[in-house]
Amino acid sequence: MKIDDLLGNAKSVLEKNWRGKHTVPSPTLYPHQWSWDSAFIAMGYTHYALERGCSELDNILNGQWKNCLLPHIIFDPEASGYFPDPNYWKTESHSPKGMLTSGIVQPPVHAIAALKYYHHSRGEKIIRRWFPRLKGFHRYLLENRDPERSGFATIYHPWESGFDNSPRWDEALARIEPRDLPEYKRSDLDHVKKAEERPTKEDYDRYIYLVEILKRFNYEDEEVYKEMPFKIKDVVFNTILYVANKALLELAKILGEENSEILEWIGRQEDRFLKQFCPDPEEGLFYDYDLVLNHFIKRRTVAALIPIYAGIVEKPIIEKTVQWLDHSHFCAKGTCKFPLIPSTSLDSPYFKHITYWRGPIWINTNWMLYQGLRTYHFNEHAERLRKAMLDLVRESGFHEYFDPHNGEGHGSDNFSWTASLTIDLLYKCDLVD
Ligand code: DGY
Repeated sequence: MKIDDLLGNAKSVLEKNWRGKHTVPSPTLYPHQWSWDSAFIAMGYTHYALERGCSELDNILNGQWKNCLLPHIIFDPEASGYFPDPNYWKTESHSPKGMLTSGIVQPPVHAIAALKYYHHSRGEKIIRRWFPRLKGFHRYLLENRDPERSGFATIYHPWESGFDNSPRWDEALARIEPRDLPEYKRSDLDHVKKAEERPTKEDYDRYIYLVEILKRFNYEDEEVYKEMPFKIKDVVFNTILYVANKALLELAKILGEENSEILEWIGRQEDRFLKQFCPDPEEGLFYDYDLVLNHFIKRRTVAALIPIYAGIVEKPIIEKTVQWLDHSHFCAKGTCKFPLIPSTSLDSPYFKHITYWRGPIWINTNWMLYQGLRTYHFNEHAERLRKAMLDLVRESGFHEYFDPHNGEGHGSDNFSWTASLTIDLLYKCDLVD
């Protein structure tokens, strides 16, 4: 497939998934608007369809709650076939009037996308509208979700990480015993070839149980924070939060807004990042921290490498991280068709080649690694990832995730962020313009 065809095909995935004000992540599995998906999707649009990028971000920010929580789903009243639906979440007392939302967050990619939008559009007026909402969301994360004032947000639910069934959450979920669950029927399994591609029933029971706890406390953080059995300082979420704080600082400067609070957040994160996430700088891997068990979650997954994206850690440590990219644990070199980083180390006992976040390759994680490699000037590694991402989608299409061994696509086809980040890679590399 020629470059032009690849670009055209990526754009037509987004065209197919466009719903008037937002883009669905997938026409089948995810028929509403998802928060971090939309931010990644908006990045692709900034290159060729600014008004869509604007609408994408505007619509997601319009769903913000009074306490500034930015919900992970905005439901489309016209769409059906997804569980849990708005009737289940019971968020009416928090959501803006007329909007149906979930009651949890997802990684805060939005300020990064908003800055990219500004760079392409110079649209100061809309940025001025978004800025207080973005800042409010970051403040919500760094206050309500960080009463310890560590500088890092706590997640209450695997869905908040975006890495739903990653082995990172196995231990924390195993100690939860779901009780008095409501009857529920999943819809996700209707849209995949094999049940094995999705989380298990045991996972879902726990996902639902955790939402039941949130509902019991009507999503009030003070109570929830005391009672939640799942409380994690997520290394990927907080890497993104740091990058997003830096983007917010840029936006504040562009708008001439007061920035001391943002500087304070950034300073706290810079001082404490290593201590919070890297128990052994010699190893060069980064881990989530379980606040209930009070220990690091030492699992070999792509999350352990993602802090390269923040550019927050000194280069000698990151050199060790980069060595892992070539290690048999992570690198598909030799045994696998495309040299991309799988979601879970290939030789770990929990690796599963087609199961969602337990092994498959995802484009957004490789895209974040690619950005980080460029920041630290590991140009050969960066180029290898960029080329491999493009080769993979050229051969297999715009799937949600891919089997690391043979590159076959799984989960949903026509997946929006796979398409939008492909567009971003094609434009950034001046292959098209
Ligand atoms: C899902 O439904 O699989 C989502 O990841 C939850 O947001």
